[in-house]
Amino acid sequence: PLNRLKDEFIAVNSLTESEEAAVSDDDENESTVSITVVGASGDLAKKKIFPALFALYYEDCLPKHFTIYGYARSKMTDADLRNMVSKTLTCRIDKRENCSEKMDQFLKRCFYHSGQYDSQENFAELNKKLKEHEGGRISNRLFYLSIPPNIFIDAVKCASLSASSGNGWTRVIVEKPFGRDSESSAALTKSLKQYLTEDQIFRIDHYLGKELVENLSVLRFSNLIFEPLWSRQYIRNVQLIFSEDFGTEGRGGYFDHYGIIRDIMQNHLLQILALFAMETPVSLDAEDIRNEKVKVLRSMRPLQLDNVVIGQYKSHTKGGVTYPAYTDDKTVPKDSLTPTFAAAALFIDNARWDGVPFLMKAGKALHTKRAEIRVQFRHVPGNLYNRNFGTDLDRATNELVIRVQPDEAIYLKINNKVPGLGMRLDRSNLNLHYAARYSKEIPDAYERLLLDAIEGERRLFIRSDELDAAWSLFTPVLKDLEENKIIPEYYPYGSRGPVGAHYLAARYNVRWG
Ligand code: NDP
Ligand code: BG6
Repeated sequence: PLNRLKDEFIAVNSLTESEEAAVSDDDENESTVSITVVGASGDLAKKKIFPALFALYYEDCLPKHFTIYGYARSKMTDADLRNMVSKTLTCRIDKRENCSEKMDQFLKRCFYHSGQYDSQENFAELNKKLKEHEGGRISNRLFYLSIPPNIFIDAVKCASLSASSGNGWTRVIVEKPFGRDSESSAALTKSLKQYLTEDQIFRIDHYLGKELVENLSVLRFSNLIFEPLWSRQYIRNVQLIFSEDFGTEGRGGYFDHYGIIRDIMQNHLLQILALFAMETPVSLDAEDIRNEKVKVLRSMRPLQLDNVVIGQYKSHTKGGVTYPAYTDDKTVPKDSLTPTFAAAALFIDNARWDGVPFLMKAGKALHTKRAEIRVQFRHVPGNLYNRNFGTDLDRATNELVIRVQPDEAIYLKINNKVPGLGMRLDRSNLNLHYAARYSKEIPDAYERLLLDAIEGERRLFIRSDELDAAWSLFTPVLKDLEENKIIPEYYPYGSRGPVGAHYLAARYNVRWG
């Protein structure tokens, strides 16, 4: 019933033995999936999880028998939940379309149970309700932990002891942050594994569900023209850029405990880097792909303090409007040194990438909203045409840009001749602009990831050894920054960020794209 390109082979091969046994009789009529959104009253549930589930329902991607339960402490009835959820559902496929009938059908399958996160009794009540809906079928259960990290373990313990499936699979999607450093992350993993096996844990990094991040491997491994160039021999540097044009509005309390390096670099940008730099996997099987990503992470040099620049946004008035400083947020301490911006130079010490700087830049309250991968190629040897660019040789090099968002695109900057009788060179883009090429709306990352979790496809979820390797890279520098109370460079809200980022790039002969 799925409307997307899908290799069923992958899904079947990524099941554990016990799950395979459960799925072998997985007749649509015989099994059911119960999805429990733990923390259903929260921001992420409203903004992302319920809308994604609706989009999957709209696209006929959910199994025939499914039930969705919201679980949180807030007192709500089923009707209250439906009312809350209905406010954020949109007709993703075509916003002009009237989806009200589908929405009503979807909402009728959403229910709510109020309970504490550390109460086995409350989860047992939920279990009873789930069973009623499951009506004796094989019950497969997915729990989505959309709650603050300090209550992950309580919820996992109660869900697994009191509400896991008796005859089907039980899976748990865990939201980031997965700890604050190597030690806390290892402790979280150890606690989770008291109640779940690694195969049941789906650690989500929603950047892995973004269309252009998914496309990265297709671009590399299904086009002859890229892979031969994908190494130190032809690539000068790779840039991974995340920028938001708004501050931490509303999430300052969470953010101040983590900062931009943990919030964006250690997970979203590093995951993209691993996919970008990995060797060709043996197959598209989840374990083969994740094995290759781990190899990249383990070949990387832990980040050093002198390869990092941090910043924090300060208040700025523009056009009569005053934009707040980070520390103006009431949930942030006035003397906070938490970085809202960071730039870093990372290196992969393997044969393919030796000496190539991978530059990351992530910031909030900058002048633009974008997420991009920029690949700058080396200069063409000899200077047959380079003289056209005077001393600005950077202008003559090719650059491949993968614009993850917004306005998804992949374009390659090439040099060409300006038409006419003279010989003047110009730079142009060979452009794959998604909006022009594809009329269908791109699915939200949470749709893909939720569907994968339901299908047992682990390729886009983070394995525990990947997580350990990712923290090993960043933990020393995070400790240095915090123990030495390094003061961030202040930058005005809405600006391009601290100039230090340019000096860092210049040290490696790089100009930010
Ligand atoms: P919220 O702060 O909105 O919390 C979700 C729910 O958890 C709340 O509605 C509340 O429900 C309950 N809750 C909140 N604080 C506590 C507490 N101290 N003790 C017990 N229960 C509490 O979180 P979000 O929805 O923003 O995020 C959920 C998870 O997803 C977090 O781990 C977050 O880091 C992660 N995340 C969020 C993103 C976002 O855009 N919001 C993006 C990426 C990740 P009730 O009081 O009804 O029990
Ligand atoms: C989250 C971060 O993981 O990603 C947020 O915690 C950030 O700080 C968000 O705003 C960005 O996601 P997206 O999909 O809007 O780019």
